[in-house]
Amino acid sequence: MNIDIFTLFPEAFEWFAGQRHVSNLLSCGSRLEYVNYRDHTSLSGRQVDDTPFGGGAGMVLRVDVLDSALRGRYGVDPVTLRTQRRVIALAPGGRMLDDRLVDELAAEPALTLLCGRYEGFDERVIEHFASDVVSIGRYVLSGGELAAMVLCDAVSRKLPGALGDDRSAAEESFSVALEGHPEYPHYTRPAEYRGWRVPEVLLSGHHEQIAAWRRERSRERGEGREPGRQI
Ligand code: 6GU
Repeated sequence: MNIDIFTLFPEAFEWFAGQRHVSNLLSCGSRLEYVNYRDHTSLSGRQVDDTPFGGGAGMVLRVDVLDSALRGRYGVDPVTLRTQRRVIALAPGGRMLDDRLVDELAAEPALTLLCGRYEGFDERVIEHFASDVVSIGRYVLSGGELAAMVLCDAVSRKLPGALGDDRSAAEESFSVALEGHPEYPHYTRPAEYRGWRVPEVLLSGHHEQIAAWRRERSRERGEGREPGRQI
C-alpha cells in the first residue's frame, strides 16, 4: 500500500510512522510519503490559504495551491487523478470512518490523504479533486492530521504483515468475523486478583466452548445488554 499524505505539518507524522505495526509495513515495501502544500505555492510568503469570500472567521486552503500540489506529485490533472486513485479529503462533515470503510480502503493499492487546516478546503477541492470526503467523528479537530493518522492506523492494521499475528485484525471489534459486534473481553494472568476470577471457561482449554463463549459475549456487547458499561 502506498499512502501519500498532503499536509502543512509532515513532521506531525514522525511518531506515527515509527509505530511497530506501521514500521513493519514500511519494511515490507509499503510506502508512507508526505507532500507539504507549502512546497507547491508560488504566492508570496509561501501562502497556502486565504480569507473566506463572504467573510467569516478563519482561513481556507486555496484550490490553486491544492491543484499545484497534486499535479506536482502525480504529473496529471487532479480532475482525472481521482478516477485513478482514491483521493480522500479529511473533513468533519465527510463519510464517517467505520470498519466497513476501513476494509474498503485497505483493499486499495494506493491512497492520497488531503489534510485540511483552519476552516478547511475551498469547496472546489472537494467538488473537483477529491474522490471521497472522510470524517472520524461528529466533532471538529483543528486539522486533518490526527484524522489522517487515525485512518492510516486503522487501515494499516488490516494489511498483511502489520501485526505480529494476522488473526489479531480478523477477529477485532466490528469485524465481519464478529458479525460487526464489539470484541469479546480479554483476560490475562493472574487468574484471580483481589477475588476477581477470570471466567472459568477460558482456563478450561476447551477451544469450542471458548469460541462459543466469546461469540456470545461479543453479541451481548453489540446489543448493549451489559448495563452501565460503555464500550
Ligand atoms: Cl477528518 N477533520 C477535522 N478537521 N475535524 C474532524 C475530522 C476531520 N473528523 C472529525 N473531526
